[in-house]
Amino acid sequence: MKAVVVRRGETRPTIAEIDEPTPETGEALLRTLRVGIDGTDHEVVEGNHGGFPDGDDHQVLGHEAVAVVADANGTDLEEGQLVVPTVRRPREDGNAYFERGEPDMAPDGEYVERGIVGAHGYMAEYFTSTPRFLVPVPDTFAESGFLVEPISNAEKALEHAHATRSAFEWSPETGLVLGNGPLGLLTLAMLVDERTAFSRAYCLGRRDRPDPTIDIIEELGATYVDSRETSVDEIPAAHEPMDFVYEATGYARHAFETVHALRPNGVGALLGIPEDWSFEIDGGALHRELVLQNKALFGSVNSNGRQFEAAIHSLKSFPEWFVEDLVTGVYEPSEAETAFETGDGVIKTVVEFDTL
Ligand code: NAP
Ligand code: BGC
Ligand code: ZN
Repeated sequence: MKAVVVRRGETRPTIAEIDEPTPETGEALLRTLRVGIDGTDHEVVEGNHGGFPDGDDHQVLGHEAVAVVADANGTDLEEGQLVVPTVRRPREDGNAYFERGEPDMAPDGEYVERGIVGAHGYMAEYFTSTPRFLVPVPDTFAESGFLVEPISNAEKALEHAHATRSAFEWSPETGLVLGNGPLGLLTLAMLVDERTAFSRAYCLGRRDRPDPTIDIIEELGATYVDSRETSVDEIPAAHEPMDFVYEATGYARHAFETVHALRPNGVGALLGIPEDWSFEIDGGALHRELVLQNKALFGSVNSNGRQFEAAIHSLKSFPEWFVEDLVTGVYEPSEAETAFETGDGVIKTVVEFDTL
């Protein structure tokens, strides 16, 4: 079967012919429809994040998938059911985090991530999985369901942000997303959704107009902030202080500037995955501000089943135009290299293996 892989020693995706997997007892066989590409996939291909499955000379890419149950293989799944797979798998049976339904909180070394670290991903015509790692989604999600996984990452961060502020009356009004990549834009769409109820939302980028991401930001009713003109710590003076900041740039300075962008009692969530970078910061000012203004800053990675369910609701509530404008390219597996290209006009691309 066809698969999109990165080979050891290479830093580009390639189409490969690999064996179709045979489901083991307790596993189902899934027919892949679509697999999305995000910043993490680029980091994996470039060798800056994740790692190959032990002993293999290649890794099947992709962790944002939507698929159909092709062979239930004795599990209680229904053939033809549309599903979204989760990303993490335990390295050993009985892992306490996985048993509790909290794989996203497992420390490094206790898990693999399909398509990212130590395990093959979903960019292949078929893959296998146990049902506990498959989330059923409605049939209407055949084209858009690959967005459930990245949205679930944002759901987790929002849930944790509220949890850090749950000991007092916190009614956030202003929200700032750092980064106008796919994760940033998906999160922005959540912040402007009436269920989340941020009155005013902002999104930071570093692009000139005209640009499709700026169009989306403004169409969502949010304000575009250009980091080349206004740095993150200058945003309170240039616009207003933020109750919530969500970092999705992977630009390490933003992690610390976030503290200065917050209103007292505000919270900042860090999601970007930067490379090593040493730079100077005023640690004293940062420490003082966190303490004297009751601010919080936390990191957030991956997501659990509850957050996948929440993501299904968010995806249903997004305006149709938003998903259409966000997905700028649908490619055949043989066009994988093009699917991974970035540049003008590219926001979110997807590799399509099949349709429903
Ligand atoms: P992406 O496509 O790389 O998007 C990052 C965006 O940030 C790009 O649009 C980039 O702008 C913008 N940006 C970078 N530096 C900037 C700066 N100094 N000022 C303004 N804008 C800046 O990645 P993504 O898929 O949206 O994901 C975002 C980050 O989150 C990545 O690091 C990814 O690995 C990580 N991630 C983490 C999780 C998690 O669970 N923690 C989940 C998914 C993704 P240009 O395009 O103009 O360069
Ligand atoms: C994935 C998460 C994963 C994280 C770190 C993100 O792009 O969506 O599921 O935990 O990368 O590898
Ligand atoms: Zn991802």
